[in-house]
Amino acid sequence: MKDSARGSWSGHVGFVLAAAGSAIGLGNIWMFPYRTGSNGGAAFVFVYLAFVAVVGIPLIVAEVMLGRATRRNPVGAFRILRPGSGWQIVGWLGVASGFVILSYYGVVAGWAMDYMWASASGALMAGTAQRMTEAFDVLMGDPYRQVGWQAAFMLVTTVVVSRGVEAGIERASKVLMPALFGLVLVLLGFSLTSPGAPEGLAFLLNPRFDELGWSGVLAALGQAFFSLSLGMGAMITYGSYLEVDQSIVRSAFLIAAADTCLAVLAGLVIFPLVFTFGLEPGAGPGLVFITLPKAFALMPASSFLSTGFFALLTFAALTSAISLLEVVVAFFVDEFQWSRPQASWVAGGLIFALGVPSAVVGGFLDAMDGLASDWMLPIGGLFIGLFAGWTLGGDEARNGYRGKGSSLAGFAAWRFCVRYAAPAAVGIILVQSLVRFVRDFGG
Ligand code: PFF
Repeated sequence: MKDSARGSWSGHVGFVLAAAGSAIGLGNIWMFPYRTGSNGGAAFVFVYLAFVAVVGIPLIVAEVMLGRATRRNPVGAFRILRPGSGWQIVGWLGVASGFVILSYYGVVAGWAMDYMWASASGALMAGTAQRMTEAFDVLMGDPYRQVGWQAAFMLVTTVVVSRGVEAGIERASKVLMPALFGLVLVLLGFSLTSPGAPEGLAFLLNPRFDELGWSGVLAALGQAFFSLSLGMGAMITYGSYLEVDQSIVRSAFLIAAADTCLAVLAGLVIFPLVFTFGLEPGAGPGLVFITLPKAFALMPASSFLSTGFFALLTFAALTSAISLLEVVVAFFVDEFQWSRPQASWVAGGLIFALGVPSAVVGGFLDAMDGLASDWMLPIGGLFIGLFAGWTLGGDEARNGYRGKGSSLAGFAAWRFCVRYAAPAAVGIILVQSLVRFVRDFGG
């Protein structure tokens, strides 16, 4: 397939915006705050930051590099680099992860759209704060409403992806990313001037390591993979549309910084409001859909704030869902020579269907998320790191890494991380997860 038919980014800025759009999503605004709330506040944030530095940034570099060097989807990338070897399985695992994650991601994004609509129409904020648990339960008990919004979300995602790399994905990112930062800043203005701001800040800054435990460390690693879109070849795919000869390391730092910044900002929006109204910061997954609306309901301009927040969540989810679908679409386009629109509609339709059980069967969504974030992404990431660190020869790696502004010292540090630090960290944690899994299910 000719590269011109695959498409490419207009330049470095387009790539970084799209990749940051992939990274910033439900993982930042929904998961990061509730996981921080349930796992010892700043203790979780510290461990998370360490994983981003030692595992996350080096793996972004590895993925983008593999994509840029081969100009292929994850399966094609491994095939081109090591034909006939078992490495292709890592690519297949990535494409499978795209199916699994987007299936339930579309359902949660649908909840965000539903809340955005209900906030804008005034229906949500017409209820009292006490009614917010009920409002969420009503949505959970209504499969048609959930599947309807999931379908709407998947439709928008598919339309964007079907339009192509520059005219679809990049253009959407260029509109949605600035809108997202704008919305965060407006919401931040409200939360940081609320009476609970000092307590909310203290919650994010004071580590309580006794509340972290192993499960918190595991969650921090899963969170780093999920939030940075790593381990399934999304960054391989986005890297495959990169033509400019820029330093990949610089882009990786920018992407990780934007992603981390947005996660922390989401915490800064949410926790001050939670404390202002004396609500529970460790509420778990309901933090954003139940606890936060309670706070909004007690504030002036409640509908405005609530609409803004759920628009933020929807926009963030959209740019991430686009990248999840793109992994699958690039696979069909490269490997089976399908046209982009055909690949987009077939993949979008299949993933939508696969997601319906997450909306209607209790516990299914959590099981899918556990499978993807605890297993598929870390396993994929482990092998991508091992491949870049050990299988690629020194010259191959150096050529792939090279770009305007890259240095030899940087290369050595990166190579050390993908050879030793990242596989060790991920390996230890996978073994721990396995031991716990066997213990929990074996006895
Ligand atoms: N990074 C996205 C988030 O934080 O919501 C989710 C995601 C997108 C995971 C793309 C994996 C991926 F390949």
